[in-house]
Amino acid sequence: MILVAQVSDTHVDSGARNTRRVEEVMAFLSALRPRPDAILLTGDITDHGWTQEYEIARRAVRSDIPVYSIPGNHDDRTAFRTHLLGEPASTAPVDHAHRVGELTVALLDSSVPGEPGGRLTEDTYAWLRTVLAEAPPDKPILLALHHPPVVLHSPVIDEISLDEPQRLAEVIAADERIIGVVAGHAHTSAATTFAGRPLIVAPSTSSVLGGTWELELPDQVMDYAPDPAVALHLIDPDSRFTTHFRTVPMTGRVSVKPE
Ligand SMILES: [Fe+2]
Ligand SMILES: [Fe+2]
Repeated sequence: MILVAQVSDTHVDSGARNTRRVEEVMAFLSALRPRPDAILLTGDITDHGWTQEYEIARRAVRSDIPVYSIPGNHDDRTAFRTHLLGEPASTAPVDHAHRVGELTVALLDSSVPGEPGGRLTEDTYAWLRTVLAEAPPDKPILLALHHPPVVLHSPVIDEISLDEPQRLAEVIAADERIIGVVAGHAHTSAATTFAGRPLIVAPSTSSVLGGTWELELPDQVMDYAPDPAVALHLIDPDSRFTTHFRTVPMTGRVSVKPE
């Protein structure tokens, strides 16, 4: 069994709140037994894409578990590369793939500089074709990107989801090894399908965004009260894909049932 944790939309800024939440989540993940084989950070790592925010985020997500990150619409590719990943400056998409046991994880940069919506560039599609061509036959592949490629019935996110989702759907439909797609951006835990595979949206650690059914409720669309939550993806030897969503309590666990 392979365990891949997904942490999303941490929105680290200069305040203490969001950083403390990330630190608590990372401590929770590193205490798990078995431990996650990898941790995916699926975008909006920082709130404004500022270098000082990446400095804070880099320290907050430090782990002896491999951490693989992609940008979201709140991120800045150059600062993301230089200050979070420690790589040379570049505005090219931050695409990368990793082998996690027998699983290939391909992380696609769906951010568009200066825009809230998502799109995959020609370079990213070309890169993905190479990753798929070089991945082992008959072994599972998981795709991760920030922008969900589907309508989620979200009052904000549906307007700024992934552009041209059909292009990505065609790639997925043509490759039976792809067991699913994981995304962030929506600040809610959601499960649906895309190109006939599971599409899992991880919750944000910073806030919860209500669905369209909450639009009429004053001040209730974005909720900062809930504790941070993460997605835990399990891949069995037969490539079966299961996800648990776990809220990480900021005030510690209560091991005895309250009266
Ligand atoms: Fe976000
Ligand atoms: Fe986002």
